[in-house]
Amino acid sequence: MAKPLKIAENLYWVGARDWNIRNFHGYNTRRGTSYNAYLITGDTPILIDSVKASFADQLLDSVSRLVDPSTIRYVISNHSELDHSGGLGKVMQAAPKAEVIATAKGVETLKKYFPGAESWNFRTVKTGDSLEACGMKFDFISTPMAHWPDSMVTYCGDMELLFSMDCFGQHYAAPALYDDEVSLDVLMYEAKKYYANILMLFGSVVKKTVGALDGLKISMIAPSHGVIWRKNLDLIIKSYLDWAECKAAKKLIVVYDTMWGSTEAMAQAIIAGAAQKGVATCQLNLTVSDMADVVSEVLDTAALVIGSSTLNNVMLPNVAGFLTYLQGLKPAGKYGTSFGSHGWKGGGAKDVYDALEKIGIERVCEPITCSYRPTHDDLAACEALGEKLAERIISGSAG
Ligand code: FEO
Repeated sequence: MAKPLKIAENLYWVGARDWNIRNFHGYNTRRGTSYNAYLITGDTPILIDSVKASFADQLLDSVSRLVDPSTIRYVISNHSELDHSGGLGKVMQAAPKAEVIATAKGVETLKKYFPGAESWNFRTVKTGDSLEACGMKFDFISTPMAHWPDSMVTYCGDMELLFSMDCFGQHYAAPALYDDEVSLDVLMYEAKKYYANILMLFGSVVKKTVGALDGLKISMIAPSHGVIWRKNLDLIIKSYLDWAECKAAKKLIVVYDTMWGSTEAMAQAIIAGAAQKGVATCQLNLTVSDMADVVSEVLDTAALVIGSSTLNNVMLPNVAGFLTYLQGLKPAGKYGTSFGSHGWKGGGAKDVYDALEKIGIERVCEPITCSYRPTHDDLAACEALGEKLAERIISGSAG
């Protein structure tokens, strides 16, 4: 059973809240998520986006409380990833005459996902194209790679509303519909985490997307996940511009895994060195820290030091997994190095050091290593590294 939620005259949220999801392709969604779909009622009803396949019946139930689903005239598919298009098969069974509006890439992807889509009535759109329906005009703005090549956003000047797709979203099954009805701290935490894990790789595209909104009168931003922004628009737009540049706070983080505590002792010494210079620090043990939360810390750190003990001549699996994840996200403008303990033969810290180059993290010095247990001198070297990085952070030096 589902109930639509009214946003404005003739505009309803008909999406689904996924309270139970805790893993969104590897991203720990501890507050669940939502798949936001919107219905514009009127003489030619318009459905904007769909939901994950398992929530399709819920979507249709919501729609049917407002209009006969078979009367849906247009389905705007801003993005074909399955969290937004999965329910489209059922929607099209219910509304076979609907015209499906998407970018060329969107049409291509939907045809690949849905074997029956060959017979759907598609309209391909690009930036500059629009739809006039239900007494309003809907402008399409193509935003390739924010998040997939097919992505676009839809702007309705009559409602001063941007349907922003993944942009400005949060994996947050919120207890309310709007940003001013939830804790702003929680909301910004989830918005930042979402950006870091989903969009960080596409910073330049995100910047372009935000730039394309210049001059548009926007009173509400309705993303495909989480709450609708109606109060804190300036805050989220400014945050997106900062995040798109991976703008760094005066902060150093140490991310590591440890076998017998030696690598952890080194991590603590690096943190101590940085902290005494007055920069913000964060020590993140990958055995107990969630990777998606760690990536959120990476987004706005200046310096990143990553450590691993050596296990069977290589780095620890937790660290390898994290580095692989980070390589895909390519955080920009970060610097640091690696460290770690080993027994009779090294390997872990060197593996991390090599991975940092692939990720694009500037390596400020060779790895710091120690054998079995860090000596006083080893810990002093770690502390000195923390101090050196902190001095660079404070001076704001990029070179
Ligand atoms: Fe929420 Fe790129 O899908």
